[in-house]
Amino acid sequence: MELRVIAIDGPAGSGKSTVARAVADALGLEYLDTGAMYRSVTFAALRSDVDPADTDAVGELAAGLEITVDNGVVTVDGVDATIEIRGPEVTRAVSTVAANPTVRTELVSRQREWARRRGGGVIEGRDIGSVVFPDALLKVYLTASEDARAGRRAKEVTDLDYETVAADLARRDALDQGRASSPLVEVGGAIAIDTTDREVDAIVAEVLRLVDAADSGAP
Ligand code: C5P
Repeated sequence: MELRVIAIDGPAGSGKSTVARAVADALGLEYLDTGAMYRSVTFAALRSDVDPADTDAVGELAAGLEITVDNGVVTVDGVDATIEIRGPEVTRAVSTVAANPTVRTELVSRQREWARRRGGGVIEGRDIGSVVFPDALLKVYLTASEDARAGRRAKEVTDLDYETVAADLARRDALDQGRASSPLVEVGGAIAIDTTDREVDAIVAEVLRLVDAADSGAP
């Protein structure tokens, strides 16, 4: 059966979650935040005092970890991690964990299984159009200026100032784009949308038009 996958990739703060959630709602599809999965493995490593850079130990941990994402509530081995996975400790270490090829293989396989069970969905991340679902119905690559992206993240976290958030974002982008295993890239066939200074509704409407066009077989 062909899967109806809408892949939404892009760097941190480009608007992926907001846009992906709204597109999923409009289409009556489910939404998967794959960043929450990498954050969950990072949360588990920190919680069990495993060094995020210890490739073997973190790979082993990921393989046996139970992660559930339901209506925005994230549990990791039965523990509610919804708040902590967005906190500064996890955010600081997540790109190291996400560069681990064993972790990626494990999570990519879970993401494919998630979509297979549902016949598709709106899936956001860094490698969805390039690696996880290269045959997605539609691939969208969201971008925004560094300043806009850092500004959005700074609004979400109340305990860090703009400079700290901006520096952290730049460091995470560099790691995500520079890693050997499935780096963040704008893949051929993806449609790039710059979200700087644009209203969410207008971006969502544009993505929905692109879905329509893809459904009717437009290139
Ligand atoms: O999307 P979010 O910012 O929550 O993702 C957290 C981190 O997870 C990213 O900085 C990246 O290192 C990693 N990630 C990834 N591949 C994905 C989704 C997220 O490497 N598909």
